[in-house]
Amino acid sequence: MKISIIGGTGYVGLVTGAGLAAHGNEVICADIDKKKINDLNNNILPVYEKGLDSLLQQAKQKGRILFTNCIETAVKASEIIILAVGTPQNKFGDTDLAQLIRASKSIAYHLNGYKIIAVKSTVPVGTCQMIELFIKDNLKNDKVSFDIVSNPEFLREGNAVEDFMCPDRIVIGANSNKPAETMKKLYSTFNSPIVLTDIRSSEMIKYACNSYLATRISFINEIANICEKVDADINSVIEGMKYDKRIGGHYLSPGPGFGGPCLTKDLKSLIGFGHKSNANVNMLKAVLKRNEIQINSIIEYVNSQFIGLSNKTIAVLGLSFKAGTNDTRNSPSLQLIKKAIKAKYSVKVYDPVVKEIDEPLNSEVFFAENIEEVSENADCLVIMTEWDEFRHINLELIYKLMKTPIIVDTRNILPASKVKEAGFTYKGIGIRSNNYESISDSMMQII
Ligand code: UGA
Repeated sequence: MKISIIGGTGYVGLVTGAGLAAHGNEVICADIDKKKINDLNNNILPVYEKGLDSLLQQAKQKGRILFTNCIETAVKASEIIILAVGTPQNKFGDTDLAQLIRASKSIAYHLNGYKIIAVKSTVPVGTCQMIELFIKDNLKNDKVSFDIVSNPEFLREGNAVEDFMCPDRIVIGANSNKPAETMKKLYSTFNSPIVLTDIRSSEMIKYACNSYLATRISFINEIANICEKVDADINSVIEGMKYDKRIGGHYLSPGPGFGGPCLTKDLKSLIGFGHKSNANVNMLKAVLKRNEIQINSIIEYVNSQFIGLSNKTIAVLGLSFKAGTNDTRNSPSLQLIKKAIKAKYSVKVYDPVVKEIDEPLNSEVFFAENIEEVSENADCLVIMTEWDEFRHINLELIYKLMKTPIIVDTRNILPASKVKEAGFTYKGIGIRSNNYESISDSMMQII
């Protein structure tokens, strides 16, 4: 099928474009960002995403993908127009629909025959119908017809290609048969269940999923905190929970709080439009609040190690909001760095992929080349991102390099008892801080 993607240089747009091309479609990725389009035409990717490069190369070699600034060409050439523009949060915490409206205006202007307009951007319930009316009102040629569908994405950064190619499910929200059948045809080559529903329910599914994932993370962070207070071990607790088929083990890793461009934004948006619709959103608010306090507990622990002392250096391992991406938007690591600078620590950072961050933080931290350099003369090493490289740090060497041997492992990726044996003060999340051997290291058994 002939597909165009507006917002085709973002990570959702690009992965969708490359994925649909791999399934035999002819795809045009269109974007008003000239630099990104130029870069893509020169094989430079705007995002770091595992597997995306080779998928795009294959699509290019087969002539199935094009990149253009010309929205007109994209709109006119396609049967299905996918809207994958950003819907960031505005300063009031609501969803900013400006890019979506701008893109819809261009579509309305260039529409030259019947097309399906599929909204992949995450939008509050009711937005697709609002866009439908907006396009109708702005059609240059009011004889052409179109249908709007909702087609939310469930791509995780760092796993987006796999998530696209082997989705757990595909959700299509349509209010009539014709567009529903066409969308089913588009996805007929995927070996995944298709959930076909009305447009509003489809929009809501996306929010329900992201909020549920956020809820699990806030839940396990709270349980981890209680574990610390009552001398229990979170790793053992999770082991004991995850075999329960009703619970499972996903999204139960305690950490520095959920970050990234999606979970917090979508949770806030859901709270906002839920509240405006007179729904009770108290539990969702608590999930958000729990996440906000998580980072405070980490800096408070660091402070507790240096009461009355000054000129201390914190070494931060990891800048991206999670492993597998170079995305630092809403990253817990940057939140920690801000708090550390405010508390007058010197801050050194190392990330295997991220080599600069937004100002003013960028000029206030020292970028180290590797784990050894970041550890040198540091008083506290804080692991913020679960990069594999950090799981294999040379404890003996780091011990010699650091000024004060304190490790704060906000991802619980190091074996607590080994770190303690190596002479460090070790703090994990929900891990015993006393001298018990960690059950998860030595005593816990699954027989
Ligand atoms: C999330 C959803 O998982 C995707 O399904 C969705 O499509 C995407 O948002 C989106 O709306 O576009 P993403 O933000 O890429 O994907 O990242 P996740 O892997 O879900 O992680 C989010 C945050 O939660 C990260 O900071 C991660 O470190 C944290 N996390 C995740 C935990 O602290 N514990 C966990 O057990 C899992």
